[in-house]
Amino acid sequence: MSDDHHPADGNHHPHVVPLKLLFGVIGALFFLTFLTVAASWVDMGGANVPVALLIATVKAVLVGAFFMHLRWDKPFNSVILALSIGLLILFLGIVTMDMHENLPEMNEAYSEEWMETRRKAIVEERLEEARTAFENKEITKAEYDERVKELSKPVLEVLYPHAGAHSTPADGHADIRADALQKAMLMVFRAPLPAVIPSPPGNPASPAKVALGKSLFFETRLSKGGKISCHSCHGLTTFGVDNQPTSPGHGGARGDRNSPTVLNAGLFGTQFWDGRAPSLEEQAKAPILNPVEMAMSDEAAVVAVLKGIPGYVESFKGAFPGEADPLTYDNLAKAIAAFERTLVTPSPFDAFLGGKLEALDTAQLDGFLAFQDAGCVTCHKGTLLGDGFEKLGKVIDFPGLKDKGREAATGNAGDRYQFKVPSLRNVTKTGPYLHDGSVKSLDEVITLMSKHQVGKEIDAAEIAKIKVFLESLTGSLDPATAAAPAPVK
Ligand code: HEC
Ligand code: HEC
Repeated sequence: MSDDHHPADGNHHPHVVPLKLLFGVIGALFFLTFLTVAASWVDMGGANVPVALLIATVKAVLVGAFFMHLRWDKPFNSVILALSIGLLILFLGIVTMDMHENLPEMNEAYSEEWMETRRKAIVEERLEEARTAFENKEITKAEYDERVKELSKPVLEVLYPHAGAHSTPADGHADIRADALQKAMLMVFRAPLPAVIPSPPGNPASPAKVALGKSLFFETRLSKGGKISCHSCHGLTTFGVDNQPTSPGHGGARGDRNSPTVLNAGLFGTQFWDGRAPSLEEQAKAPILNPVEMAMSDEAAVVAVLKGIPGYVESFKGAFPGEADPLTYDNLAKAIAAFERTLVTPSPFDAFLGGKLEALDTAQLDGFLAFQDAGCVTCHKGTLLGDGFEKLGKVIDFPGLKDKGREAATGNAGDRYQFKVPSLRNVTKTGPYLHDGSVKSLDEVITLMSKHQVGKEIDAAEIAKIKVFLESLTGSLDPATAAAPAPVK
């Protein structure tokens, strides 16, 4: 600071304040104002207010420092200083009062805005999907135009066309609820279905192996009468089942158990109602030789049939390259298992678990809560909503049980009436229900589950809600995978 700004007598100075300092302070204030504006462009959520206050404080300090250079003994300067301090206090007072009152509102406005942005992104995503579908000729021009028209409506109408009494999407609560429920569901169900079920180390998948497995799955020549294939009891266009209580096998004979679905079955820890097969590979060897299923006499007979069909000799070579004798019973089972691992049915439930919050509607979310409240999730959990073994009649004995369940597989009396907890995927399509196919309707099986597995009476309203949730587990198999292959010659 040069001395001439503070002359000893303090009387004849032309400037009250040095010009350099004045411009410096004004420049700094402008810069800080610019900084405030810039900060307001950056979306920092709740942090915006404290940052603006910080900058305002720095400004105030600067202004204060500026005044410190004035001569306080001049009455004019003192008046200005007093006025400024007064204004500053008043201003800060107003700002803090305002903040206390408005902070919650500001946060709400902010979250509203955030959700609006999210909704817009979703609509944009759907437009993009429609455009791609049209470009790939999956939908017609008229269908595309229709979709664009739908998506051009106000955002809320597009996303919540059936917004009813339950949801209040207008204030964004529906999104918050779905977000919370998605996290809750991930805790119970862990993960959505994978695109393909991972192969075990001993049986890596290849396109050739999967194609061979598919031919074998549909192959009726693997049965004694030449009429039955895996597909007879596990129809791929009928959700992997035949919708019969028990299935007619060779000569119309029926076993004692209901055919479970093959769809998604590769994710189970064990196969069959009693878990007696540890893998799909082991499982596939059984029905071909089972006298009430495909009824072939022994493995050698099956291999002989296939060796008589040139197309199979070729396909086994392609599927098991480098093996001296690729056409074996073990390899047949491996190929079928590799094909079965492609049988996955992703559903809206999976989309939701994967983060697409709009994939389930309010009623389906209510349905999940009902399913959870009813105590179903203690057993029907994980990606399949099933797996592991539980006693049928865990809380209250189940009447008329003939099948001893897992005891037959382990010889352990403690396993009596234990059955594999079946997956609930596609369950609205896979009736009749239970290991013996004895229960026709879903309503009835839910009532029985509640009574015997949980020990609670359940009313019709709760059952209806649970069914709405179960609907969301219905997925679809890739049509190309489900289509029958060309016969092998
Ligand atoms: C005559 C009807 C019939 C035929 C043919 C048949 N299955 Fe099955 N499948 C069943 C029945 C019944 C069960 C349940 C048996 C049990 O648990 O004891 C079953 C169980 C299964 C399972 C276990 C699923 C689970 O959730 O535990 C798989 C996998 C399977 N079959 C695949 C096949 C394959 C592969 C073939 C052809 C090689 C085949 N099935 C042929 C009726 C049939
Ligand atoms: C203590 C374990 C447990 C609880 C709790 C439980 N389940 Fe089950 N669930 C099973 C077992 C085990 C089976 C198979 C029993 C059988 O086939 O004999 C089964 C079978 C089913 C089936 C038939 C599936 C099919 O393909 O045949 C449905 C549907 C079902 N449960 C729904 C529910 C619902 C809804 C609830 C809640 C009200 C529930 N379960 C509670 C263990 C349980």
